[in-house]
Amino acid sequence: MDQHILDEQLTYYRKMAQEYDTTNGQTDDLQRAFARASELLQQLAPVEQMLELACGTGIWTRTLLPLGRALTAIDASPEMLALARQNVGTTVQFEQADLFAWQPRQQYDLVFFANWLSHVPPRRLNAFLDTIAGAVRPGGSVVIVDQYAPMPEDREISVQTEDGAIYAKRSLRDGQAFTIVKVFYDLPIIANLLEALDFTVAVHTLDDVFFFLHAQRQAT
Ligand SMILES: C[S@@+](CC[C@H](N)C(=O)[O-])C[C@H]1O[C@@H](n2cnc3c(N)ncnc32)[C@H](O)[C@@H]1O
Repeated sequence: MDQHILDEQLTYYRKMAQEYDTTNGQTDDLQRAFARASELLQQLAPVEQMLELACGTGIWTRTLLPLGRALTAIDASPEMLALARQNVGTTVQFEQADLFAWQPRQQYDLVFFANWLSHVPPRRLNAFLDTIAGAVRPGGSVVIVDQYAPMPEDREISVQTEDGAIYAKRSLRDGQAFTIVKVFYDLPIIANLLEALDFTVAVHTLDDVFFFLHAQRQAT
């Protein structure tokens, strides 16, 4: 199926870990959008147990850390995790796991992921959201920050597949090129899927490209 693309996507992120912080979040527009996301996130504090998925180099891990008592951050790339550990410190529990195989061992008050949903292929979306729902305690929250529209780099050499996945090209500074998944999900579709899993959903658009989605699980 799409496993080879997911493997290539992870290889790309493993190899670009050292480049990540200098190639992402550099424009003023992006900084403004992420500052707004950070403000919205702070409105959910204080919480107890937090989980971050696909933490990368720890850009959002640093923002999350003061919002709760304990933070676990997961990524499949050991290179990304090493940088996150260096950037954020050892009070975070970092774990290496493939999110397409991972199952939560406990429930959290806040589950957060930024710039990850758009890398989940449409065929795996339902299973992924089901797993996430199982990781949130009743009354707890999921926050997703991601793109609902392409940036200029996403328009380059991308191929739309039958199931709506977009395979985009990404290159390292040395010229090595990789294919990754990049999907701009329709926000009402994501909201409906989460509502069907017993969440109440609020979506904020941060600019013309990024959204912040807060889904709160019904308290029992
Ligand atoms: C676009 S980066 C986002 C990083 C961070 N959340 C941020 O916003 O800066 C995507 C992250 O997903 C991780 N990743 C890729 N495939 C994965 C997988 N199968 N399971 C877990 N993490 C994966 C990569 O290593 C990378 O750190």
